[in-house]
Amino acid sequence: MKSLFINKYINILILALIVNCQQALLAALSSGNIVSFYNANDKIVVLTSQNFSSTVYQSKIAWLIEFYASWCGHCQSYANTYREIAIDTWTWKTIIRIAAINCYAGDNNALCRQHSVRGYPALRFIPPETILGNTSKAIEISATDANVVKKRLIKELDNIPKKNKLWPQFTPVNRITLEELYARIPSTVKILLVIAEKRNDFIGRHIMLDFSKYRDQLAIFRTTTDGKLWRKFNVSITDVPALFVILRNRTAQRINIERNSSNNIDNHDLFNNAIRSYIQQTKYIENFDDREFEEIILSKNALKNAEMQQKLVQKKNVTDEILDKNTIYRKVNMVDLELALSYMFREEVPQIKEIYGDAYDALVQWLTVLTKYFPGREPVMGYFKQLLLKVSEHSNGFSGDTFREIINMKTSNAYLPNDHAQYQHCAGSAPQYRGYPCALWLLFHTLTVSQYQIESNQIDVTEVPLAIKNYIKHFFGCRQCSTNFMKETANMTQLNSQNKREAIIYLWKIHNRVNKRLRNQITEDPKHPKLQFPSKKLCPTCQSMNKKNIYNEYIISKTINFLVEYYSKENIDVSLILDKPYNNETLLIRQERLISPIEYHAEIKENVGSHPKDF
Ligand SMILES: Cc1cc2nc3c(=O)[nH]c(=O)nc-3n(C[C@H](O)[C@H](O)[C@H](O)COP(=O)(O)OP(=O)(O)OC[C@H]3O[C@@H](n4cnc5c(N)ncnc54)[C@H](O)[C@@H]3O)c2cc1C
Ligand SMILES: *[C@@H]1O[C@H](CO)[C@@H](O)[C@H](O)[C@H]1NC(C)=O
Ligand SMILES: *[C@@H]1O[C@H](CO)[C@@H](O)[C@H](O)[C@H]1NC(C)=O
Ligand SMILES: *[C@@H]1O[C@H](CO)[C@@H](O)[C@H](O)[C@H]1NC(C)=O
Ligand SMILES: *[C@@H]1O[C@H](CO)[C@@H](O)[C@H](O)[C@H]1NC(C)=O
Ligand SMILES: *[C@@H]1O[C@H](CO)[C@@H](O)[C@H](O)[C@H]1NC(C)=O
Ligand SMILES: *[C@@H]1O[C@H](CO)[C@@H](O)[C@H](O)[C@H]1NC(C)=O
Ligand SMILES: *[C@@H]1O[C@H](CO)[C@@H](O)[C@H](O)[C@H]1NC(C)=O
Ligand SMILES: *[C@@H]1O[C@H](CO)[C@@H](O)[C@H](O)[C@H]1NC(C)=O
Repeated sequence: MKSLFINKYINILILALIVNCQQALLAALSSGNIVSFYNANDKIVVLTSQNFSSTVYQSKIAWLIEFYASWCGHCQSYANTYREIAIDTWTWKTIIRIAAINCYAGDNNALCRQHSVRGYPALRFIPPETILGNTSKAIEISATDANVVKKRLIKELDNIPKKNKLWPQFTPVNRITLEELYARIPSTVKILLVIAEKRNDFIGRHIMLDFSKYRDQLAIFRTTTDGKLWRKFNVSITDVPALFVILRNRTAQRINIERNSSNNIDNHDLFNNAIRSYIQQTKYIENFDDREFEEIILSKNALKNAEMQQKLVQKKNVTDEILDKNTIYRKVNMVDLELALSYMFREEVPQIKEIYGDAYDALVQWLTVLTKYFPGREPVMGYFKQLLLKVSEHSNGFSGDTFREIINMKTSNAYLPNDHAQYQHCAGSAPQYRGYPCALWLLFHTLTVSQYQIESNQIDVTEVPLAIKNYIKHFFGCRQCSTNFMKETANMTQLNSQNKREAIIYLWKIHNRVNKRLRNQITEDPKHPKLQFPSKKLCPTCQSMNKKNIYNEYIISKTINFLVEYYSKENIDVSLILDKPYNNETLLIRQERLISPIEYHAEIKENVGSHPKDF
C-alpha cells in the first residue's frame, strides 16, 4: 500500500516537474529572450524579480531604478540618456546606484505592477534603508534629460535625514565659525573644503557626491550667500561659486578656478577638476583613484560614438532589394494579433491600478469594438463576449488587480490563448525591435477594415478610431508614444461620416505620419526600415509615377482597395493557429515551428519570388 502510494506521488511529482519545465520554457520563449537593454559596461545594475528586493530594500545606499519594457520604442530612445545618468553618477556609488528592470522579461511584470508603474519608462528613487516592500517610499522621478534627473537626485538625497558624520552634509553651514566646523569632522579627515554658492545652486552638493567615496578623508561643506559664514571668505556675491580649503591653522585659502559664466554644468566640471588637481598635488588622500574620474569622460565619449555609429548604420540607403528580403510581403498573421491581445489584457490593462471613469469607459468601448469586429476564431470571440459581460457588471469600475482576476476565465469554448511562441509578421531582427507595438498597428488596421466589411450599410466611421485612441490614451504602456498619438489624432472627430472607408484611410495616414517621424530613429529595426506604406513593390498600382519615373504620390482609391484586401479576414494567415488550448502536444508542434530571426529572414528570402503573388 505504502509503496504504491509513493509511486503515485512520485508520478505526480514528475508530471508537475514536466509541466513546470514547459512553463519555464514558454516563459523564456515569450519574453523573446531579451533580458536587458543594459549590461555591466553601462554601469547600470540589472535587476530581475528574483533579486530586486534583496538589492534595493534595506540597503545602505539609495537606488534609482528604471522600469522599462523592451518592446517600448521610447524606452529604447531613452536608454542612452539613462546610460549617461549612470556614467555621470558613477563616483556617487557609495551613496546611490543606478539600476534597471525590464518589465517585459521573465516574470518581472508583477513586480513592476506592485511599484505602480503605469507606463514606460518610469523612474523611482528608493531611499536607503527602506523597509522591504514599502513601495510607498519609492519616489517618482520623471524620465527626462540627464541633467534634470541628476539635479532631482541631488534634491532627494538632500531630503534624506542625516545619518552620521560621514554621510555628505548637504545642509549649508552658515551660522558657524571655522573652529566649530573643524570640530564637526572626524579625525580621519585630511582635507576640509568649503564651497560658497547661492542657496539654489547644485555645484556644492554635486561635488560632495562626486568625492563621496573619500568622505572619511575629505570633508566638503557648502555655505550659501544668504548666511553669515561666506562673508568671512571675502568674496563678492558676483564671484560665487567659489572654492576654499580650510587649513590646519584655521585660515581659508581660495582655490582659484576660472569660472565659465556661460554654462553651469561646465562650472561643475571645472570645480571637479580643480579638486582632483589639489588632491594630487597635496597627496593627502590615501588610495585616491583618479582613473575613476577619467573613466567617466572616456565612457561618455564611447557613448557618444556608439550613438553616432547607430545613426550611420541607420542612414544607409534603403533599396527595394533590402525590402524584398524582409517581411513586407508577409501577410498579417493571426498569431501576432492574438499575442498582442494576450499581452494587452494579461499585462498592459491590469498595470493600471484603478480602472475608473474615463479609463473604465475606454476599456468597455475597446472591448465592444473587439466583440463586434475582431475577425478571430470562435473561442477567442467567445472570450471577448464573456469578458465584456463581466466588465459591464462592474459599472463603477474596478482595480487592476480585480481585472486580473476577471481575465483569467477559461472554458473550452472561450479562452484567450497565451501559448504562442513568437511574433511572425512582427518578428524583429533583434529582440528589442517590432513585436507588440507592430502587432498593435496590425490589429488596429484589421479592425477598421473588418468594420467596413461587416457593416456594409450603416457605418459609424469614428467608432473604431475613437476606441483605439482611448485605449492608447489610457492603457498603452509606452507613455511618450501615447502623448504623441494624442497630438497626432487631435482632429479625429472631424472624420467625414459620409465616406464609409474614412476610418481605414485615416489610420493609414496617421500610421504613415508616425513612420515618417520614426524613420532613422534608434528604435528602427535596421532590417525593417520605416518607409511609407504600401511600398511600390507591395502595391505597384497604389502610387502614381512622376516624370522622373519615381513613384511619389498615393492614389487614394487604389490604396484603399489594397488596404481592404491586405487587412481582410480572408488574407490573415491562420496556419499557425491551433484549435486546442495549451497541452504538451501543442508545445512540441510549436517547438518545431519556432524559428530564430536569422532563419526567419532566410526563409523569407527563399520565398520572396512567390510572396508578391499574394496581392
Ligand atoms: C499608437 C502607436 C503610437 C506609437 N508611437 C510611437 C512613438 O511615438 N515613438 C516610438 O518610438 N514608437 C511609437 N510606436 C511604435 C512604432 O510605431 C512601431 O510600431 C514600432 O517601432 C515597430 O515598428 P515596425 O517596423 O514593426 O512597423 P510598424 O510601424 O509597427 O508597422 C507594423 C506593420 O504595419 C504595416 N504598416 C506600416 N505602415 C502602415 C500604414 N501606414 N498603413 C497600414 N499598414 C501599415 C506594415 O505591414 C508593418 O509591418 C507607436 C505604436 C503605436 C501602436
Ligand atoms: C539579477 O539577476 C540577473 C539575472 O540572473 C543578473 O543578470 C543580475 O546581475 C542580477 N543582479 C544583481 C544585483 O544581483
Ligand atoms: C512606508 O513608507 C511610508 C511613506 O514614507 C511611511 O509613512 C510608512 O511608515 C512606511 N511603512 C513602514 C512599515 O515602514
Ligand atoms: C578682500 O579682498 C579684496 C580684493 O578682492 C582685498 O582688497 C581686501 O584686502 C580683502 N580683505 C581681506 C580682509 O582679506
Ligand atoms: C596658515 O598656514 C598657511 C600654510 O601653512 C600659511 O601660508 C599661512 O600664512 C598661515 N596663516 C596664519 C594666519 O597663520
Ligand atoms: C564655457 O562654456 C562654453 C559653452 O558650453 C564652452 O564652449 C567653453 O569651452 C567653456 N569654457 C571653458 C573654459 O570651459
Ligand atoms: C544613397 O543613394 C544616393 C542616390 O542614389 C547616393 O548618391 C548615395 O551615395 C547613397 N548613399 C549610400 C550611403 O549608399
Ligand atoms: C488631420 O490633420 C492632418 C494634418 O495635420 C491632415 O492631413 C488630415 O487630413 C486631417 N484629417 C481630418 C479628418 O481633418
Ligand atoms: C502529455 O504527453 C504524454 C506523452 O505523450 C501523454 O501520455 C499525456 O497524456 C499528455 N498530457 C496531456 C495533458 O495532454
